[in-house]
Amino acid sequence: MTETIYVLNGPNLNLLGTREPEIYGSDTLDDIAGSLEDRARELNLAIDMRQSNHEGHLVDWLHEAQARGAKAVILNAGAFTHTSIAVHDAIKSIKTPVIEVHLSNPHTREAFRHVSYVGRAAKGTIAGFGALSYTLALEAAARF
Ligand code: DQA
Repeated sequence: MTETIYVLNGPNLNLLGTREPEIYGSDTLDDIAGSLEDRARELNLAIDMRQSNHEGHLVDWLHEAQARGAKAVILNAGAFTHTSIAVHDAIKSIKTPVIEVHLSNPHTREAFRHVSYVGRAAKGTIAGFGALSYTLALEAAARF
């Protein structure tokens, strides 16, 4: 049976490719989805990739990941990383392992990015490797 990895993306990540490319790179979210799908096929895994600008969608999808028996969640919560107790609590509320991912390294950026509510609840964090952060998270999830 092919297991599924949910890949959840938060606000403004729909604009990847044109959004501050000097920070986030030139890959679009579709490019990242394509790379993940290629690697997932080799690992005999399926990818369910989503993006929303709305906090509650991320909460609902985290619940859904557990309800549907996902193997893991790769989560780039964007700015909600630094603000959302609701996303933190949703991660704590499910048993499905969640890997926090960022394209940039928030710790080298503004002080308001140094707090991560997601990171306090996630199994682990991969940040600072651009689009490769997602692939590295998939490699970790495949080993769960
Ligand atoms: C981000 C880092 C966050 O601080 C920022 O708000 C984002 C993107 C990243 O992938 O580097 O939207 O999560």
